[in-house]
Amino acid sequence: MDPVSLEASGISQTVEFQRELTLPGDPDTDHLLYVFDTNTDVLFGGSASDKVVISDGEEAKSWESVAKILQAALKMGMTRRSVFVGVGGGVIGDMTAFAASIYMRGCSVVLVPTTLLAMVDAAVGGKTGINFGGYKNMVGSFHPAHRVVTCTEALTSLPEREYHSGLAEVIKTAALGDRELYGMLRDRRDAIFGRDSDVMREVVARCVRVKAEIVEADLTEQGRRAWLNLGHTFAHALESTAGFGAYTHGEAVAWGMSRAMALGRRIDITAPDYARDLVDLIHEFRFSTDLPDLDTDGLIQAMARDKKRQTSRLRFVLQKNLCDTIVTEVDTGDVEAILE
Ligand SMILES: NC(=O)c1ccc[n+]([C@@H]2O[C@H](COP(=O)([O-])OP(=O)(O)OC[C@H]3O[C@@H](n4cnc5c(N)ncnc54)[C@H](O)[C@@H]3O)[C@@H](O)[C@H]2O)c1
Repeated sequence: MDPVSLEASGISQTVEFQRELTLPGDPDTDHLLYVFDTNTDVLFGGSASDKVVISDGEEAKSWESVAKILQAALKMGMTRRSVFVGVGGGVIGDMTAFAASIYMRGCSVVLVPTTLLAMVDAAVGGKTGINFGGYKNMVGSFHPAHRVVTCTEALTSLPEREYHSGLAEVIKTAALGDRELYGMLRDRRDAIFGRDSDVMREVVARCVRVKAEIVEADLTEQGRRAWLNLGHTFAHALESTAGFGAYTHGEAVAWGMSRAMALGRRIDITAPDYARDLVDLIHEFRFSTDLPDLDTDGLIQAMARDKKRQTSRLRFVLQKNLCDTIVTEVDTGDVEAILE
């Protein structure tokens, strides 16, 4: 499969596809430091010479872990010509790229995404970060990996819940910008559930192209990049009110997309046939859109907090139709109505 390149000003990134997961080297560098978490180390870390291993999970996305990576770099005598290689999901990718962005004022980073979410989303577009002060991704930088090395065979060892969760971002990406992928999700659903490497290579490449196009047009999130948040205002509110871990991120995003469809229909923005079709697709991918015991007030408060504003109107990414997305302000009353 041909590599996918992002070449716009401010971002230069190539996503390559491999059939076997071999750790990328770089003949032009003095040092490579591989960063794994405890799971990816067991799976893929065997041949790495210089490596640092961080505990797995979102809690490890912290200053302490970044300090551990930087200390390893210092101990190895890494220079500005050295390369950091993050092998793992979004947590390892975001953290490795952040460490690379501040070590000696910025070194190169290569990412090897090993979760579906990291392949289709986190490794692409240059956002790095760690959680800080109780807030997700509060501290970070824009520092695109110049190479992303993707091997869809790595998906076979991913726990079912993680894999399924990543599929919500795939549905979102298809809805935002790829009609063929949207159709393919239905036609090839069984192969996708079966993690067929060839089918997933095409799915991932298509998602990367859509994200690349959106990010290239708007690296620093002044406009179109906000589209990537389709369903996410609802999802973040659900994750924070239900308690992190109650739902996977993908379950929250899938529900959030269904709420975005309901909101768009209520304010006469979204074509009813499309709204029905997307919600059907979400169900076909075994996500629930009817969640019990929702705390409507808590959700609205969380959404206002998420937007860091207290007004009677909230901003949402909505869709008029497939691949036709807008960002608009909506009265809180309309949001309440579709949460009840
Ligand atoms: N930078 C961005 O643009 C961006 C976009 C979306 C999400 N993110 C970030 O991504 C993070 C979530 O990423 P994630 O969902 O990949 O979670 P994760 O990195 O925590 O990985 C999930 C779990 O899967 C394990 N794992 C990874 N690859 C495996 C494999 N091939 N086989 C078996 N187990 C494997 C990990 O050890 C971990 O336990 C969040 O911190 C989020 O903020 C960043």
